[in-house]
Amino acid sequence: MARRPLVAGNWKMNGLSASVAELQKIMAGTQHFANVDVMVCPPATLLAGFAAAARGSRVAIGAQDCHPCPAGAYTGDIAAEMLKDAGAQAVIVGHSERRHYHGETDAMVRDKALAARRSGLAAIICVGETQAERDAGHARAVVRAQLEGSLPDGAADFALAYEPVWAIGSGVTPTPHDVADMHGFIRQMLSARYGDAAQRTRILYGGSVKPNNAAELLAVDNVDGALVGGASLKAEEFLPIVRIYG
Ligand code: PGA
Repeated sequence: MARRPLVAGNWKMNGLSASVAELQKIMAGTQHFANVDVMVCPPATLLAGFAAAARGSRVAIGAQDCHPCPAGAYTGDIAAEMLKDAGAQAVIVGHSERRHYHGETDAMVRDKALAARRSGLAAIICVGETQAERDAGHARAVVRAQLEGSLPDGAADFALAYEPVWAIGSGVTPTPHDVADMHGFIRQMLSARYGDAAQRTRILYGGSVKPNNAAELLAVDNVDGALVGGASLKAEEFLPIVRIYG
């Protein structure tokens, strides 16, 4: 089954209001790419401004995290409904930086994915093993446990992002063979749980995707796009990655 690819940029804690100029370059550079979905996920402070700037363009705007509850006494947190209200169309949940720096468990990630569904946002749910887990031969077992614990029941209405922790921000990537192996495994797990609908679920690869390695990584079976960190901050690096599908 042909899945429409998605290239999403995760800006992490980078960007000020002047960064809308970079978004505009990304919008201009992607306006003729009809075969790929493009998304930029800026920090929460920029969501509303970016969503307004991107209206009518090919670039969707996503958030990087949400709270499971729709409202309440949670100082500093942001509900999925608020992200939607600000103009977001999607939200990343369970990124390894959230799991590691904020102690997010699989159960919390699942609750966040459910919050995304409740509010009408598309969730991008992240999984991936550490270097130590891979070295110990536990990569599949770790990803299996994360999938079992982090994915919501019901519809397979989310995107997955496989991001090996050791590849994030490191400049190191798995081999295409290792990516094919893990993405195939994730597809199998999705099919066992969600049936035929899992054929429509996009599985993104993330971790040091750059213009010079993207073509090889995106050509791998069951890789339906990329979640790009550092290389998404500059249009001149992000656009060549999107253009692979153009
Ligand atoms: P990176 O980040 O592309 O900078 O490795 C990817 C991510 O964390 O989503």
